[in-house]
Amino acid sequence: MALSDAPLLRALTGPRPEHAPVWFMRQAGRSLPEYRELRVGTRMLDACLTPDLAAEITLQPVRRHGVDAAVFFSDIVIPLRLAGVDVEIEPGRGPVFANPVRSAADVDRLTAIDPLSLDGTAIAEAVGIVTAELGDTPLIGFAGAPFTLAAYLVEGGPSKEHLRARAMMHADPDSWNRLAGWLALVSRRFLEIQRDAGASVVQLFDSWAGSLSTSDYRSFVAPHSRVALDAIGVPSIHFGVGTGPFLHDMRLDGIADAVGVDWRLPLDEAAGILGPDVTVQGNIDPALLAAPWPVLEAHVRDVVERGRAARGHIVNLGHGVPPETDPDQLTRIVELVHSI
Ligand code: CP3
Repeated sequence: MALSDAPLLRALTGPRPEHAPVWFMRQAGRSLPEYRELRVGTRMLDACLTPDLAAEITLQPVRRHGVDAAVFFSDIVIPLRLAGVDVEIEPGRGPVFANPVRSAADVDRLTAIDPLSLDGTAIAEAVGIVTAELGDTPLIGFAGAPFTLAAYLVEGGPSKEHLRARAMMHADPDSWNRLAGWLALVSRRFLEIQRDAGASVVQLFDSWAGSLSTSDYRSFVAPHSRVALDAIGVPSIHFGVGTGPFLHDMRLDGIADAVGVDWRLPLDEAAGILGPDVTVQGNIDPALLAAPWPVLEAHVRDVVERGRAARGHIVNLGHGVPPETDPDQLTRIVELVHSI
């Protein structure tokens, strides 16, 4: 089989594959004992920048679950670290920045860094190791969308409603647009490094876009996300959580080949909103991974059935794998989807 015939690529570019492809956001990580073992004594971002380690962690879930794609083990803040920004990931909490970016002067200091100057050597090396081993299984590269990155950067760490970033849009739109414009170029560069090294699909994660109003999404966010993904040269997936109210906008005027849908919106409804020329990705409820198998099985069958309403369907969760998930539940889902 050629890589272009892989079910994931067929679901993105047609014709529809025999069975829907399946992979899981956050499949590479804490739900796997073999991951926890490898990570002992290495900080998260250091692990991401150690090529043989990042490659091995990327491959673990492919070997274990037989998923239709690997997703590169890295993090949305890695390109910022590569650009020289002081960021760490605190276990159990998330990304933390030593110097939050809140004023026009803070934005000036950051945007003085040339996004093209970041050193992608370790990333390219890891992607090279992975794609050599994967053969016909595609590798998905990814980046954080400008708003989701800004939600961390402006706050200085994780927050619930991203009040500071959303306030900046209105209080100082010029600083906001310069910051988001710079983040778009940094994310784009990160995607290009992965693409050039062999990733055959990319996904842009706008995980926190659901905190925005439709009007703010349109005015202050979508134009920047477009820059990150426009003409990237490989099929693309655009993902957000809680983005039902502006799902159609997530197509980014046709730039995205697939749109991620969370568990709140049935896929047939999502397909109706998105239209006939886009693939949907999703939307198994991560909460049901903790339910008995017959309950989860019925839910997965329903998701696959509803996904037939779209041009193409990539089976995934509505958000990432929760760390406490029993990995066998994920393997069972893959076997089930491949049998339908
Ligand atoms: O999907 C995959 O398996 C590939 C790897 C991947 C990671 N982070 C590894 C990771 C991907 C695609 C991401 C993206 C990411 N990072 C997002 C968008 C996806 C989403 O879930 O919405 C976001 C918002 C981040 C920022 C981030 N990094 C958070 C919120 C956390 C969790 C903090 C915690 O410990 O609860 C991280 C750390 C992180 N990124 C871990 C992993 C495997 C956990 C680190 C560990 O093992 O200690």
